[in-house]
Amino acid sequence: MEYGIPEDLIEEVRLRTDIVEIISEYLPLQRKGKNYLGLCPFHTEKTPSFTVTPEKQIFYCFGCHTGGNVFSFLMKRENWTFIETVRHLAQRSGVSLPERELSAGERKKRERRRRWEEIHEWTAAYFQEVLLEKAEGEAGRNYLLSRGLDEQAMRAFRLGYAPARWDGLVKTLSARGVSSSEMVEAGLGLETDHSGVQGVRVYDRFRNRVIFSILDSGQRVIAFGGRVLDDSLPKYLNSPETEFFSKGHHLYGMNRAHQGIRERGYALLVEGYMDVIAMQKAGYANAVASLGTALTKDQAKLLRRYTTKVMIGYDADAAGVQASLRAGEILRNAGFSVYILSWPDAKDPDEFVRKQGSEKIRQVIDAARTFIEFKYSILSGDSVPHTIPEKAELIAKLAPDIIKVVSPVEREGYERFLSLELGLTLEAVQSEILRQEQKKPKNGRENENSRLGQDISVKNRDNIIRYVQPEPVVPMGIYRAEMVLLRLMLEYPPFVSRFEKLLTAQAFKVMEHQEIYRRLKSGDSLSQADLPENIQGKLAAIMVDEIELTHPEQLFEDSVRRLKAGQTEEDIAELQERLIMLEKSGDLAGAMVLLREIGERLRRGE
Ligand code: UTP
Ligand code: MN
Repeated sequence: MEYGIPEDLIEEVRLRTDIVEIISEYLPLQRKGKNYLGLCPFHTEKTPSFTVTPEKQIFYCFGCHTGGNVFSFLMKRENWTFIETVRHLAQRSGVSLPERELSAGERKKRERRRRWEEIHEWTAAYFQEVLLEKAEGEAGRNYLLSRGLDEQAMRAFRLGYAPARWDGLVKTLSARGVSSSEMVEAGLGLETDHSGVQGVRVYDRFRNRVIFSILDSGQRVIAFGGRVLDDSLPKYLNSPETEFFSKGHHLYGMNRAHQGIRERGYALLVEGYMDVIAMQKAGYANAVASLGTALTKDQAKLLRRYTTKVMIGYDADAAGVQASLRAGEILRNAGFSVYILSWPDAKDPDEFVRKQGSEKIRQVIDAARTFIEFKYSILSGDSVPHTIPEKAELIAKLAPDIIKVVSPVEREGYERFLSLELGLTLEAVQSEILRQEQKKPKNGRENENSRLGQDISVKNRDNIIRYVQPEPVVPMGIYRAEMVLLRLMLEYPPFVSRFEKLLTAQAFKVMEHQEIYRRLKSGDSLSQADLPENIQGKLAAIMVDEIELTHPEQLFEDSVRRLKAGQTEEDIAELQERLIMLEKSGDLAGAMVLLREIGERLRRGE
């Protein structure tokens, strides 16, 4: 009962719901063979590439690679949580769920949250009123005007001004019945050290600053950032971390961007408040900023609800470059494809738009570099290394990123790019990367465990010795190839029998992958509730992973070759181990025979 709803009821809802019927309410679907086709609701397209497969009760878009089941469709489309989605579908399909009583604690929390929202709303309205209507807001007005924002923009982005007074907001809020301690809790008021005659005294946290209201996707004000009007420090003051607001969990601009990202098909990640406003004003409603912190995993997760593609358009300075590398890393690990933008002759997107005009943004976007290209240019300092060790080092540094590339075709593209750039043969680059790939887990815990596993023999009560089977360490390239193959088989069933003719189930090194393949082969359903959780997880990962499926044939062949190569390597490693044993035991004739076999296999492999 992880979600407060029993699993079997969730399953019942799933069984009683037809994905085609649900999705048809959002877009017209046309039957095509076993599938239904339509225009994807998650990105703009002219020819339909959005597929619904009733048999598997899943959907998938070949254009933007969004996919999942009926729950994930509604969660994405309606921006509902899982639990909200289940409740909605339960009601539709007539499954009655137990009305969960809120606990006293939960009820209290919900009330606190409502109060909190109300206080923030009043505060935003107050700051805006000062900015737009009061004499003491003039300084703020002029400042924002000087930065190219007119009154309409000030309203649209809920900008405001905190006057140079100690009690502007405090007075306003207390007139509405907000207590001093509530103001302090919301991070809007600060306590004076000495308590005055009337007990606790609070004064305004934000003073003499232009105010940026931070809204969540539900358009609720949840925090503020305030900027000084001159060069004094700190430049920005933000709401503190509290029960309902944490910087690392939100992105500035999200209130518009959740729509904008869907429309454009990607998120535009920038550094600052002003950058978001400049970009959104210029028609890029998909712009968000990470509120001055390094991008967090939670923020990546938040974006992942809307897209799998991010363009990073951070500041042009050295700090911006470092931040791009870090954010790119986090995003790639979260499964995004990442591109990096550069703003010619400007320090940030805001300045770029002001200097060059919004029409020029298009060119910047078109000139986006992939994360790996960007990292290459940073590592090489825009000059190709001369010596061989330098070249090898550069490849070694980029290898972890290249290893993560899902598509073998794309991966080879990067390998070719490096071979051209560095003046090395493709084979040399590939084998260096492969060397890094195989080296990597050896330093990790994973491999230690598996080595241990090989040595440990466990004696159980019946005195039977069992060898603990080690979890094989699977190189990333093979892991990816397995995912690609399974995805292909899920999308195009004929690949199953083709694979069957080429390799056995053992070719899959990831146990869950092997199991999924077995089920595919035997025609077992994969949409059943009785699928073990780990299989379900892997299956979902495979279905939602961004894989470029435009050349399935090529992809299939490349991936099969990769698994075969892996298997050959494994066989050879085993033979080599035996060879050492034979040599040690003095059986040189046997060793010679083995040696010949190894040579033979090496020649055959590839
Ligand atoms: P920047 O210094 O790049 O500010 O910080 P900016 O947004 O470009 O502002 P302008 O153009 O000088 O007016 C980027 C972001 O880092 C956070 C803010 O969210 C800011 O938008 N930041 C910066 C802080 O939270 N506190 C600071 O003191 C500075
Ligand atoms: Mn700026």
